[in-house]
Amino acid sequence: MSSDSIDNLMHEERRFPPPEAFAKTAIATDELYDDARSDRLAFWAKQARELLTWHTDFTQTLDWSGAPVARWFHDGELNVAYNCLDRHVEAGNGDRVAINWEGEPGDTRTITYAELTADVKRAANMLTDLGIGKGDTVAIYLPNVPEAVISMLAVARIGAIHSVVFGGFSAESLRSRIDDASAKLVITADGGWRKGKVSPLKPAVDGALALEKDTAHTVEHVLVVKRGENEVDWVEGRDVWWHDRFEAAAPEHEAQPFNAEHPLFILYTSGTTGKPKGIIHTSGGYLTQATFTHKNVFDLHPETDVYWCTADVGWITGHSYAVYGPLSNGATSVLYEGTPDAPHPARWFELIQKYKVSIFYTAPTAIRSYMKLGRASLDAFDLSSIRLLGSVGEPINPEAWIWYRDVVGGGTAPIVDTWWQTETGAIMISALPGVTTLKPGSAQVPLPGISIDVLDEAGHPVPPGGGGLLVVTEPWPSMLRGIWGDPERFRETYWSKFGTKYFAGDGARKDEDGDIWLLGRVDDVMNVSGHRLSTAEIESALVSHPIVAESAVVGAADEATGQAVVAFVVLRSEKAAGQTKDEASALLRSHVATQIGAIARPKQVFIVDELPKTRSGKIMRRLLQDVVEGRPIGDTMTLADATVMQTIADQLR
Ligand code: PRX
Repeated sequence: MSSDSIDNLMHEERRFPPPEAFAKTAIATDELYDDARSDRLAFWAKQARELLTWHTDFTQTLDWSGAPVARWFHDGELNVAYNCLDRHVEAGNGDRVAINWEGEPGDTRTITYAELTADVKRAANMLTDLGIGKGDTVAIYLPNVPEAVISMLAVARIGAIHSVVFGGFSAESLRSRIDDASAKLVITADGGWRKGKVSPLKPAVDGALALEKDTAHTVEHVLVVKRGENEVDWVEGRDVWWHDRFEAAAPEHEAQPFNAEHPLFILYTSGTTGKPKGIIHTSGGYLTQATFTHKNVFDLHPETDVYWCTADVGWITGHSYAVYGPLSNGATSVLYEGTPDAPHPARWFELIQKYKVSIFYTAPTAIRSYMKLGRASLDAFDLSSIRLLGSVGEPINPEAWIWYRDVVGGGTAPIVDTWWQTETGAIMISALPGVTTLKPGSAQVPLPGISIDVLDEAGHPVPPGGGGLLVVTEPWPSMLRGIWGDPERFRETYWSKFGTKYFAGDGARKDEDGDIWLLGRVDDVMNVSGHRLSTAEIESALVSHPIVAESAVVGAADEATGQAVVAFVVLRSEKAAGQTKDEASALLRSHVATQIGAIARPKQVFIVDELPKTRSGKIMRRLLQDVVEGRPIGDTMTLADATVMQTIADQLR
């Protein structure tokens, strides 16, 4: 987002106070802010004790002596899966539906808390039978099916660590994540349904494990869920069917307590360099904040609400708001396997009507694509069950905000625009519905107990109306505890700029009321459809192809996806001989998809003769961005060859 468009946004005058009826029954009240302000740590200790069940109570709330690695509730003990399952059954809510699952072809499964608890107990025994124990890592590469949730909880239940890899990532990406975390087990499926057909997953696992690498992989077994019913290759001794092992496993399992700081999961996300970072989250603090935010930000009334977060479990949003937050709160959720437009363009709206969804949480990119569809195709569905809407992943422009409220929210539903990251683990900035007067386009205020500021380069808070860098000034319960295997990178990435203040990598502005407006990333990270991709990662995928000499990748503003991947490539003439530019460009687009995954496939690959570089050889991506976004090209004074940009602009024409 440019600074001009933010200036325009900040002049957005529309305000939406909480509807009176909503405020009357709202879960969150003003008191939360007062409580947190009067004693921040006591506030979090109270939330942890009220919202979770502890096997052993903690005596210290926060230990920040090892900064930047925090310990929250560190001498407490709990079992995360017990908190998401057994305790609801013990409280008499076993018959409540936990998951309304819908497959893309329209098949369904309704799973109560009692059933989910039983499934997870059996799955925990199945994992133990396969040799998985406390501290082992398990890679999960599954479609959005109940077994994905069951796997995560079963891993958590036995104190192992999950690393969920989104099913859209390629064999290469999967392998690098398996290796980085030394996974002993991979849980996958034969295939899953996507856009009307079965998209196979097992071949990617086979491919990943067959890749020649410097070191052998650590995987002992591949556990395969039957979903797509597609033919799969089988490696005897290594591969096992879920249904065989599941049925053979014992049904009873008592959840053991683990330390609050025991790792719960690793989730990989893109950073500024080529190698994805394994973000580490632990148990007690993570679950406290996921549970607190899910309850208060989404105004969850678990007895009556039907909640749907559309994210795939492979992303952090899926972890915190499709699995841990809602289950810990005893919510009834919808889980959907497929894409929003299959088999018809308004599938999500059909599901809102079918399940009477009352709380709906999705990303602006999806909202914009539904806007394009037009009202007529959506008006066919009854969305009157909706009472609250959420947005996440990128800034939501006021136009999309208003459309979302009018068309999906019946003109009354409050919208919570939630800012957070894989690293923060849970929501950090958001309105509280029933309390906050909403401003379309702004994420607004830090949640109670969360301390946020916007700083200038020198580390001074900017005055109202000013812009700068977003930081979290105090540790928070669900903060990342590190980067798997790379403590140095952890310090360097987040803590080298402002010391013990966490640098989020986002630009932001504070308006006159102190509300926060997000401006997008300030580093070489792109945001495509709410997913993070690094320019360096895609560049290194491009240069791994023999015809490529050099590449530069930029994120270009895109109406549908927020940003789109655009690559500039210089070919090695001897290797690329005989190929037209169009052929080379098509070849490289699919090469990136094979190397990283379809989400990283560049929208455009421009074959150019030279890249714009400074005298010291640094590629000036900003100038390339000017060209693709149709702006006048910025200052070319520092270029080694000032004519390069003109040549590129001419070539693109
Ligand atoms: O740039 C911010 C953007 O998404 C980044 C985090 O990406 P990821 O770790 O993949 O997590 C996405 C889902 C939590 C942030 O650094 N972002 C996330 N939410 C918002 C946002 N930008 C503006 N407004 C938001 N509500």
